[in-house]
Amino acid sequence: MSQPQKGICAEPNLHGLFLMFNVEEGKEAIIREKLAIMLEIFEHYDEEHYEGMVSGVIAVGSNYWMELFPGILPKQLAPFPDFSEYDRSAPVVPFDLFIQIRADRADICHAIGIEVCALLESDVELVEQVKGFRFLDGRDLTGFVDAADNPRGMKKFDVAIVGDEDPEFTGGSYIHVQRYQHNLEKWNRLPVVEQEQIMGRTKAENMPFSTHNQAPFSHAKKITMQNAQGQPIELLCQSMPYGDMKVQGLYFIACAKSPQPFTDRLRNRIVADENGDYDKLLDFTTAETGGAFFAPSINFIKQQAKR
Ligand code: HEM
Repeated sequence: MSQPQKGICAEPNLHGLFLMFNVEEGKEAIIREKLAIMLEIFEHYDEEHYEGMVSGVIAVGSNYWMELFPGILPKQLAPFPDFSEYDRSAPVVPFDLFIQIRADRADICHAIGIEVCALLESDVELVEQVKGFRFLDGRDLTGFVDAADNPRGMKKFDVAIVGDEDPEFTGGSYIHVQRYQHNLEKWNRLPVVEQEQIMGRTKAENMPFSTHNQAPFSHAKKITMQNAQGQPIELLCQSMPYGDMKVQGLYFIACAKSPQPFTDRLRNRIVADENGDYDKLLDFTTAETGGAFFAPSINFIKQQAKR
């Protein structure tokens, strides 16, 4: 199988830097070359600072893909899904490139970010830069452990990496990104028992409620999915909290071998079911961006640089 980019299935890090770029017209050939150089930057820092658990992901926006790699398309690549109901929405904000830099040292994330920006400078506009951080023991800023049941070990690869079903794109991953801004003042006014009902698990001890005890509007209920055979359909979440003293939230990042596990969950969260239940967490946090990307394998990026 082609080699996946290291950051897709990386273990959670202490720091992240998330960069979104739009590329100037007519720069496709040079960008293809520069993406391969970017892989070398990631490798260099990984080798020099092994203890820093450095990794990166280069992901190409679904709307930009055909310009950058004309004539060769991942089978299931699609624009970010457009769902909304009442005041619940998932705005679609497409970007051309999503560069995710992660490490256990903030200085290394910063140094790589500077090199990536210098490399691309003459060809792109930097449209978003967000620093993510690990909060307490892997908690979201709502105080709950995030992605507690993420797939682990080799299971991550089964969930997040394209296999033989799309031979030209093995080793790649479908990535969805949403920047959520939390209303923590409103959230923190809720009694903890109500917060726990909304999340579907206990706050301090991080114990999941049994399926029977999960409220129909809980996050846990709305993100649980099974196939026709009753097997779970999983998603690898690589999100990180971000923020300053005024604005805070979750930089949500999902990786999967197809767009469906994300798209179906997003629909379940936003569009109310026949009983009027949606994911009540959405009353306390708002998505401000939303982009669909594909992170091709290392082999693909290197091959395309020579095109
Ligand atoms: C502000 C936004 C979000 C927050 C604060 C948040 C928070 C959490 C928390 C606390 C958990 C652990 C509870 C549990 O496992 O039941 C969790 C799990 C999960 N969330 Fe979210 N979430 C957010 C957005 C999303 C979105 C947009 C999706 C997908 C469309 C999603 C998909 C999942 C999945 C699949 C799990 C279960 C697997 C796992 O534990 O890793 N979440 N989320």
